[in-house]
Amino acid sequence: MGTEYITYKGMLFPRLDYSPETISYLQSEFQVRDDDVFNVTYPKSGTNWMLEILSLIRCDGDPSWARSVLNWDRAPWIESNNGQEAALKYPPPRLLSSHMPLQFFPRSFQGSRAKVIYTLRSPKDVVTSYYHFTHIMHAFKDHGPLDAFLQDFLSGNVPYGSWFDHVAGWLGLRGQDNFFYITYEELQQDLRGSVQRISRFLGKELSEQQISSVVENASFQTMRRNKMCNFSEVPDEFMDHSKGQLLRKGH
Ligand code: A3P
Repeated sequence: MGTEYITYKGMLFPRLDYSPETISYLQSEFQVRDDDVFNVTYPKSGTNWMLEILSLIRCDGDPSWARSVLNWDRAPWIESNNGQEAALKYPPPRLLSSHMPLQFFPRSFQGSRAKVIYTLRSPKDVVTSYYHFTHIMHAFKDHGPLDAFLQDFLSGNVPYGSWFDHVAGWLGLRGQDNFFYITYEELQQDLRGSVQRISRFLGKELSEQQISSVVENASFQTMRRNKMCNFSEVPDEFMDHSKGQLLRKGH
């Protein structure tokens, strides 16, 4: 299976569903729209959690969309071959996902009014979560035992490169009106308050009841049961379901 990686400008990416052409197109030709909303993370930082929150906010707390449409169709991955194709066909306003470090993000983002929500997580938990994920998803090679994976992680020798560079790059946009960042830990400590802040950033005024619905439907337990976001529908070609699940521990 696609267990080896490709290298693009010195950074590793999964071979499965990625190509230098798609990544290069993303960087230099992909047209960002002012009404785009991007869910951006380093892998294993709460991407799918934030995607669920953004989906629910978009629908004023109504869970129908989140319960009926697969999350990768709700917010396609702009850097993967399939995801980019879907993003290009997505009727605006688009909700899009990306693990790209800032230097490979579409150049047309610069000067646009598109919004980025960047979620980051303690690297200690990212490493553990990432290590487990490499055993579940066929896109990743076996990096060996945890200490070997940790070495690769610390030297940026994993897909999407160094966590440190990723975070430092994106947080360089702090203070920009169209950039919002939040930590996984903040989501855990105060999901309701976080949802309010994210909604405000998106220019959405949700009622108390609508916010409660977002919080309830984005909870670990609800997401674990929702086939549209718990990865149980990921084809076997991409995931070994016998080895684990996306919503592993969540704390
Ligand atoms: P663990 O592997 O530590 O359990 P990503 O979506 O970026 O791949 O991140 C996956 C991590 O987010 C997993 O962490 C998963 O359990 C956690 N996660 C997903 N949904 C969550 C939720 N609603 N609440 C808390 N953690 C969640």
